Amino acid sequence: MAELALEASKHWLLREALISGLEGSEWGFITQLNESKELPNSLKGLQHLLHSLAEATASQSDGVDLGHLIKYFVDRSTSWNDADAALLAGLDRYFHAHSRGPRLLTQSPFPNNKADLPWNPALQSIHHRLSPWISWPGHANYATALEKAARTRNKLMEDASIASHAEAYQMVCAGCHGFPGEGLKNQAPPLHKADWVLDSKDRLIQIALHGAHSPIYVGGQLYQSPDILSEMPPLSVLENELLASILTYIRQAWGHAFDPIDSNEVARVRAATAGRQTPWTEKELLSIP
Ligand code: HEC
Repeated sequence: MAELALEASKHWLLREALISGLEGSEWGFITQLNESKELPNSLKGLQHLLHSLAEATASQSDGVDLGHLIKYFVDRSTSWNDADAALLAGLDRYFHAHSRGPRLLTQSPFPNNKADLPWNPALQSIHHRLSPWISWPGHANYATALEKAARTRNKLMEDASIASHAEAYQMVCAGCHGFPGEGLKNQAPPLHKADWVLDSKDRLIQIALHGAHSPIYVGGQLYQSPDILSEMPPLSVLENELLASILTYIRQAWGHAFDPIDSNEVARVRAATAGRQTPWTEKELLSIP
């Protein structure tokens, strides 16, 4: 890998070819490079290559590898070198050029407890440079970031470059409910085999539109804060079609085989509770037929 990188560093055309050949596997390449110690840090061409690798990693729509890359910076902050700095600069450049609001990560890349990792100058600088561009469940601006992401996703749908249903689920819900719907500790209960997903369509649509307030029983088990977030935020900003496609996905993925939900159903349910401001309690949800 190191040899390949050095070779590609020699000319921008070679770099372009390497990056486009990697398509989607940039993060894997970065980790391999990191293991090989033979790279000179200071080579100019190599720095360009690292910029491009970071940019390509950030441009992947699901944000999974972006999360890995940022976590990598945090872990590397105690032994920061020029190659790390070049990757961070690439990410910085990507965000300044492309950001349409914070990117959603599944969890905070920064240590929760400041004692977990010394907040050295490198870590402080990483935090300072990246925090305007990222958010995660539990983060102060997560609700706004989610809304922005949803708007962007709506826009993408309009542009007819529809991502698959799975991708839409991954982007909007998986940060809290996990992929494949297994639920995440400190975030949200499972969707896999959950009655709320498989039973009443109206209830499911209502949860998605207006959110829900803990506690709630799922699969006979009680979920409440602080084991999960105290509330699922309303997602009524999502358009009917997108919501229908996500809800259909969770009713049919992971071994589920229930009937789909179409956008007219979402529109009907939305109209019936237009103006509602607060998330549902479990009791209210159960009274929906
Ligand atoms: C910010 C985190 C978050 C996001 C994003 C989120 N949820 Fe939730 N969701 C929760 C929490 C927390 C609960 C539990 C609420 C309660 O206790 O009543 C929940 C509950 C649910 C439930 C009922 C309980 C269960 O697990 O079956 C369903 C169904 C559900 N969410 C679907 C979705 C769908 C579909 C999406 C995406 C369109 C989504 N959620 C996005 C946090 C989230």
